[in-house]
Amino acid sequence: MKKMEIKKIAAGVYAAPTKHWDRRFFDELIPLPDGTSYNAYIVKGDKKMALIDTVDPSKKQELLDALQDMNVNIDYIIANHAEQDHSGSIPAVLKRYPNAKVICTQKCKVMLTEHLLINEDLIAAVDDGSTLPLGGKTLEFIHTPWVHWPETMSTYLHEDHILFSCDFLGSHLATSELFVKNKAEIYDAAKRYYAEIMMPFRIPVRKNLEKIKDLHIDMIAPSHGPLYDKPEIILDAYQDWVSDDVKNEVVITFVSMHGSTEAMVNYLIDALMERGIKVKPFNLQVTDIGELAMALVDAATIVIGTPTVLTGPHPNAVYAAYLANALRPKTRFASIIGSYGWGGKMTEDIKGLIKNLKVELIEPVVIKGYPKENDFRMLDRLADEIYEKHRSIIKEGI
Ligand code: FEO
Repeated sequence: MKKMEIKKIAAGVYAAPTKHWDRRFFDELIPLPDGTSYNAYIVKGDKKMALIDTVDPSKKQELLDALQDMNVNIDYIIANHAEQDHSGSIPAVLKRYPNAKVICTQKCKVMLTEHLLINEDLIAAVDDGSTLPLGGKTLEFIHTPWVHWPETMSTYLHEDHILFSCDFLGSHLATSELFVKNKAEIYDAAKRYYAEIMMPFRIPVRKNLEKIKDLHIDMIAPSHGPLYDKPEIILDAYQDWVSDDVKNEVVITFVSMHGSTEAMVNYLIDALMERGIKVKPFNLQVTDIGELAMALVDAATIVIGTPTVLTGPHPNAVYAAYLANALRPKTRFASIIGSYGWGGKMTEDIKGLIKNLKVELIEPVVIKGYPKENDFRMLDRLADEIYEKHRSIIKEGI
């Protein structure tokens, strides 16, 4: 088994990052093209020692061996989040350090007892803003709910100005670099992470950013991906993503059976581009849903293209609509294009699937068979309408 390398990030503060290079799915749902990491942290005070988060159960032995090599005693296990990739090794750590106390929010306490069967007597719930002195090191617990579960919190180390944010501000990126070196690489990985995991909670995330904005933060130490010694890299990106501002972009998700819908999509792509609109098309047969989620972070409009299968949309289009509805992007407009052979209620079905989206629906273009001259004119009308809608809400770049 690979040995974990404990790395010092400040005096008495250590990162214990485990890499899961070849993990390709999270929750059997989210693609992980770059693997992921689970970062635990150790804070040594003069009197007490705290372990901040643990690691995925598949990596628990790496963590236990690393703690043994450090020859430390653990007094506190700070559980910022109850999801198993951070909390799943708490039972093993408790077995090794039976006098340790688990510290978390009240909601997290309930979850840890329910999901991991940890004895509630071993867990102390802490209020928002409460502190824990370790001797020369002081931890403050900042409740940051809904990033992305209801019980989440962040831990702030006062003396070193480090924010241990767990999932919040993290990225699914397994890398040999402890700190962010490549701004473009981390931007993409963190945006994908935001899109897939945090975007449904855009408003709570925005509130939490507001909550930490006056903290003096020199370093952000998330529990996935590399650490930020320049916190503004990720804080500025998040401010953009959680804002209400959308970009002059159209996401088109589509699937085509006999080429009619594809011909409509291709025509619409050109028509939108001619009007100066950036288009991000996704053929659902070959799309990585993470890429689609990332595109939805900024786009002003989503267009769903689908043929009619029996009486409704193609199942791939149903999946895309369901996914967009679940991710709740800040997209402002939506439309539907596609074809049918002898009838159906495809548009009604799609409309019913995107009720969470706070969008204005632009008149769909649904045609019989392969597109003809009149159908292309309707697509021109759709492109015009999208252009005018964008112009009405986007100040720059149009
Ligand atoms: Fe990384 Fe929500 O767990």
